[in-house]
Amino acid sequence: MGLHKVIVITIIISFLSNTESTCLPFSCDTSNPDTIKLQFCNSSLLVDQRVDDLILRLNLDEKISQLGNTAPAIPRLNIPAYEWWSEALHGLSMEGLGVKFNGSIEAATQFPQIILTASTFDEHLWYHIAQAISREARAVYNAGELKGMTFWAPNVNILRDPRWGRAQETAGEDPMMVGKYAVAYVRGLQGDSFEGGKLKDGHLQASACCKHFAAQDLDYWNGHHRFTFDAQVTAQDMADSFQPPFKTCVEEGKATSLMCAYSRLNGVSNCANYDLLTTTARGQWGFHGYIVSDCDAIRVMRDSHGYTAEDAVAASLKAGMDVNCGSFVANYTRLALEKQKLQESDIDRALRNIFSIRMRLGLFNGDPKQLEYGDISPAEICSQEHQDLSLEAAKNGIVLLKNSAKLLPLSKIKTTSLAIIGPKANDSELLLGNYAGIPCKNVSLLQGFQGVVKNIGYHPGCNFVNCTSAAIDEAVDVAKKAQYVVLIMGLDQQVERENWDRVDLGLPGQQEILINAVAEAAVEPVILVLVSGGPIDISFAKNHPKIGGILWIGYPGEGGAAALAQILFGEHNPGGRLPVTWYPKDFIKVPMTDMNMRPNSSTGYPGRTYKFYKGPKVYEFGYGLSYTNYSYNIASVSHDKLYFINQTSSDKRSKHGSHIHNIAVSKFGSEVCNKAKISVKVVVRNKGKIGGKHPVLLFVRHSKVKDDEVPRKQLIGFKSVHLGAREKSKIKFIVSPCEHFSRANKHGISVIDEGKYYLVVGDKKYPVTVSI
Ligand SMILES: *[C@@H]1O[C@H](CO)[C@@H](O)[C@H](O)[C@H]1NC(C)=O
Ligand SMILES: *[C@@H]1O[C@H](CO)[C@@H](O)[C@H](O)[C@H]1NC(C)=O
Ligand SMILES: *[C@@H]1O[C@H](CO)[C@@H](O)[C@H](O)[C@H]1NC(C)=O
Ligand SMILES: *[C@@H]1O[C@H](CO)[C@@H](O)[C@H](O)[C@H]1NC(C)=O
Ligand SMILES: *[C@@H]1O[C@H](CO)[C@@H](O)[C@H](O)[C@H]1NC(C)=O
Ligand SMILES: *[C@@H]1O[C@H](CO)[C@@H](O)[C@H](O)[C@H]1NC(C)=O
Ligand SMILES: *[C@@H]1O[C@H](CO)[C@@H](O)[C@H](O)[C@H]1NC(C)=O
Ligand SMILES: *[C@@H]1O[C@H](CO)[C@@H](O)[C@H](O)[C@H]1NC(C)=O
Ligand SMILES: *[C@@H]1O[C@H](CO)[C@@H](O)[C@H](O)[C@H]1NC(C)=O
Repeated sequence: MGLHKVIVITIIISFLSNTESTCLPFSCDTSNPDTIKLQFCNSSLLVDQRVDDLILRLNLDEKISQLGNTAPAIPRLNIPAYEWWSEALHGLSMEGLGVKFNGSIEAATQFPQIILTASTFDEHLWYHIAQAISREARAVYNAGELKGMTFWAPNVNILRDPRWGRAQETAGEDPMMVGKYAVAYVRGLQGDSFEGGKLKDGHLQASACCKHFAAQDLDYWNGHHRFTFDAQVTAQDMADSFQPPFKTCVEEGKATSLMCAYSRLNGVSNCANYDLLTTTARGQWGFHGYIVSDCDAIRVMRDSHGYTAEDAVAASLKAGMDVNCGSFVANYTRLALEKQKLQESDIDRALRNIFSIRMRLGLFNGDPKQLEYGDISPAEICSQEHQDLSLEAAKNGIVLLKNSAKLLPLSKIKTTSLAIIGPKANDSELLLGNYAGIPCKNVSLLQGFQGVVKNIGYHPGCNFVNCTSAAIDEAVDVAKKAQYVVLIMGLDQQVERENWDRVDLGLPGQQEILINAVAEAAVEPVILVLVSGGPIDISFAKNHPKIGGILWIGYPGEGGAAALAQILFGEHNPGGRLPVTWYPKDFIKVPMTDMNMRPNSSTGYPGRTYKFYKGPKVYEFGYGLSYTNYSYNIASVSHDKLYFINQTSSDKRSKHGSHIHNIAVSKFGSEVCNKAKISVKVVVRNKGKIGGKHPVLLFVRHSKVKDDEVPRKQLIGFKSVHLGAREKSKIKFIVSPCEHFSRANKHGISVIDEGKYYLVVGDKKYPVTVSI
C-alpha cells in the first residue's frame, strides 16, 4: 500500500511541475474564445493594425502602466506581465530582472568579455556567439524561467578613454570595427542571417539594443559622474567617431532597440534629445523599434538636469523615448497630462513601439512553444558546442604581447614544475567580467594548469587585486622552487567596473614591485599574464630581461583557463590583436571629461585613439604576436587613381589649413559612390612551422597628415584567416572610397581630401591618388 501512495504522489508532482514549466505567459491563446476574436490577436493582419486595435482598447491607467520596464498584466485582455529588462552582453546574464537562475536552469554559457572577443577580429565568430546566446535565452524562455526576450546589449560606445570602467564591455576604440561588431551581434541575437535580410518582417528570435545613445563613455571619474556629466562633443567628432556604431547598428544590423544614455550631450539630456532619437535615429537611419531609457535616467533628469518631474516625463516621451527603465515615468505621467505638458497621443506613440516589439517577438500569437523557436530546448544550454565556442573565442582573442628568446610555448614534456603567483589566480569568477550570469563550469586559471603540470606551487602574492599589501618574500620563495613562473596580474571588478573609472593606467598598488621581485628571483624568465578590460601601462615589463612572455587575456569567460593553458603549452597558437591603443601612464594628464578626439597643437592635447592620438604608445592598436610570423604582399589593386571630379561642384570645393582640398561625399550621390569600388587583393603567408589564425588588418593613410583634423590612419577592413605551416592565402577586400577615404569636416559633413593615400597592410603599402 505504502508503495502505491508514493507512486501516486510522484505522478502528481511531476504532472504539476510539468504543467508549470510549459505554461508561458503569452497573449492570444488560440484555445481561449475570449481572446481569439480580438483583432490584435489576428496574426494575418499587419503588426501596425494589430497594435492600433490594442491601443484603442486600453484605458488611460492601463496605458500608463505599460511605460516602465516591469509592465504589469492587463487581465481583462488576457495580456500577461512583461519584463523588458534582460541582459546578455556575453552570455545570458543575471543583471536585469528577466532571469535569476534559481529554477530548473542554473547556468548559461559565459563567453569572453567583449573586449577580448573583439581582439579576434572575426565577424563570423561574433555572430556565432550571439546566435548561441540567443538560443540559450530562448531555451530558458521556453522553460518558463525568463520573463522577456528583450536584451539590453550590445554596448556600442567606442572605447574613447582607456580609464573607462566599462572598457571591458566594448569592442574597442575604432568606430568602424565597433559598428561591425554591433551588426554581427544584433543579427545573431535577433535570429537574422550573417549577411542580414533573412528576418525582414519575420518573427524575431530576440531583441537587441544598442546602447548608450550617445557619446556616453565616462562613468565615475574624479568627481564627475555619468548622471551629471555634460559631454561637449564637436559636430565633427560626433559624425565620424561617436555616431557611426549606432548608425551601422540600426541601418545594417536592424537593431530593434536603442538605449538613451544618462548623460547630457552639448547641454541636452540624451533621453530628451528629439534630434538624436527621432530626427536622426528614426528619421535618417530608419530605426524601427523601441527606445528605452537607461535605468532611472528620467528620474536623473529631474534630480540632476534641472527638470521638474512632469517636464522630464514630457520631454522624454516627446523626444521619442518609449520605455522607461524604472517607475518614474509611470508615476508622473498623470501629472504631466494634468499640467498639459503631455498629450495622450504622446503615450500612444510610445505604446505603438512597445507593443510592436512584443508582437514581433511572437508573444501575441498564442503559445510560443507552438511557434517558430518553440522547439529550442534547454538541452542547448551549456551544450558542448557552446562550451567549445566560448573556449575558441578565448583562445583566438588572447593577445601575445611579448615573447623574448621564444620562451613560449613551454614544452609539456619538459616542464615539470610551475609556480602560479597572483591574488585571483584561483578565482574563477574573475574570468567572467561584468554583466555575467552563472557559468556552466567554474575553472580558475590555476586549475587550468593542474591537469597539465604535475608540480604546481601557488601564492596569491597580494592581499587583493588592488595589492595594497604584497607578500613579496613568500611569493619569491614559491617562485624560486619552480622551473617556470606564471604571474597572474592586472585588474578586476574592484578596480574597473560600471560606475567606477580608473584614475591611473599602471598596475594597481604593489603589483609592479612584486613582479620585479619575483622576476629577479626566478630561475628562468617569467611569464606575465594580464587580466583586464582597459589597457595597462606595463612598459617596465616590456623591457625587463627577466620577463620573457607577456599575454593579455581580457576577461576570457568560462573557457579562459583552458585557453591560457593551451596557449602557454603550445596547443594553440595565439593570434589576437589589440582593439585599443595602450597609452603610457602620463596620458592621465588628459582630463577624462575632454571629449575631443582630435589633437590640438595650441594646447598640447594629444588626441585619442590610433586615428588621432599623437603621443607615445605602449602598444599600438592592432598589435599582437604569435608563435609564427606572417608576411604580406599587396598583390593587386584594381584602381590606383580616383577622380572625384564634378564640373558643377569642383569650383565649390573647399580648402583648409594644410592646403589640402576636399569635397563633400554628398556631391556624388549614392549611385556614383556605389559604383566607385576598389578591389584589393592581399596575399598573406605563414612563414613559420606552426599553423595559426591571423587577423589581417587593412588601413588607409593620407600621405600628408599635417592636419589635426585628418585621421593619422583608419581601419577600412579586416579578415581573420587560418593558415597552416608555410601556407599562404589570398584575401580580397572591397574598398569603397566614399566611405573609407572620407572623414567628417568641422560641420560634421563627410568629405574626401585630395592627394596621395596609402593602402597599408602590415609593413606593406600601396599608393592610391585621389583627385577632386
Ligand atoms: C483575420 O484577418 C484576416 C485578414 O483581414 C481576415 O480574413 C480573417 O477573417 C481574420 N480572422 C479573424 C479570426 O477575425
Ligand atoms: C527566483 O527569484 C525570483 C526573484 O528573486 C523569485 O521571484 C522567484 O520566485 C524565484 N524562483 C524560484 C523557483 O525560487
Ligand atoms: C513610483 O511609485 C512607487 C509607488 O509609490 C514607488 O515605490 C516608486 O519608488 C516610485 N518610483 C520613482 C522612481 O519615484
Ligand atoms: C582553488 O580553489 C578551489 C575551489 O575554491 C579549492 O578547492 C582549492 O583548494 C584551491 N586551490 C588552492 C591551491 O588554493
Ligand atoms: C559556479 O560558481 C557559482 C558562483 O559561486 C555557483 O553558483 C555555481 O553553482 C558554480 N557552478 C558549478 C558547476 O559548480
Ligand atoms: C582593495 O580591494 C579590497 C577588496 O577587493 C577592498 O576591500 C579595499 O577597500 C580596496 N582598497 C583600496 C585602497 O582600494
Ligand atoms: C584648440 O584649443 C584652443 C585653446 O583652448 C581653442 O581656442 C581652439 O579652438 C582649439 N582648436 C581646435 C581645433 O579645437
Ligand atoms: C619573427 O620575425 C622577427 C623579425 O625577423 C624575429 O625576430 C622573430 O623571432 C620571428 N618570430 C618567430 C616566431 O618566428
Ligand atoms: C555634381 O554636383 C551637382 C551639384 O552638387 C549634383 O547635383 C550632381 O548630381 C553631381 N553630379 C554627379 C555625376 O555626381
